[in-house]
Amino acid sequence: MNKPISEACLRNQGPIAAALKERLPNAARLLEIGSGTGQHAVFCARELPHITWQPSDLAQNHDGIKLWVTEAALSNVLEPLVLDVDQAWPSMKVDHVFTANTVHYIADESVVNMLAGISCLIDKDGLFMMYGPVNINGEFTSEGNAHLDEWLKACVNPLAGIKDLADIERMAKDQDLVLIDNLAMPANNRLLIFQKQSLN
Ligand SMILES: C[S@@+](CC[C@H](N)C(=O)[O-])C[C@H]1O[C@@H](n2cnc3c(N)ncnc32)[C@H](O)[C@@H]1O
Repeated sequence: MNKPISEACLRNQGPIAAALKERLPNAARLLEIGSGTGQHAVFCARELPHITWQPSDLAQNHDGIKLWVTEAALSNVLEPLVLDVDQAWPSMKVDHVFTANTVHYIADESVVNMLAGISCLIDKDGLFMMYGPVNINGEFTSEGNAHLDEWLKACVNPLAGIKDLADIERMAKDQDLVLIDNLAMPANNRLLIFQKQSLN
């Protein structure tokens, strides 16, 4: 098996790592949800050597992630964990959570499960950083995003689709995660930064 390669990751990994670097100055444990190919894990861990990066995804993606992790041989990337946001979560604590291009890929109900799981894993002031497309006031922010939404509903899951920023913000707040930053990223994507407000 060859390493899986996402062209989109090759384009967005630099800007994502640069934004994470600014917000994560201290040594910390970070869980990535929906690591996909594993490219963000390896690229970001190389750029942020003080972060211990824990990739995770559905079991079906682990072979590919492991190929990237093994080849990179970085001491700060761990072997992937099985994490399906709709199933029981691994019992662990981390300082921060990152996810890219997952929220539009799953149903609203799964986003609620994701946010609830994250809120239990991190402590007060921990960050949840979410990269991907969002709608504003119910409108797509580009034609490309409108096509992506159509494709997701037709080919991935009829309940999937790009979520409205206000809805994500509300669902996060219900789980004690408050939006503290909203950064424009290339190709009409955003990096939303949420912070956990209270002690578990
Ligand atoms: C569009 S891919 C994004 C992959 C990678 N983060 C990236 O940016 O290239 C969506 C990812 O979400 C994962 N995913 C889908 N449903 C999930 C679930 N219920 N729990 C956890 N991850 C899920 C998929 O396996 C896939 O890796």
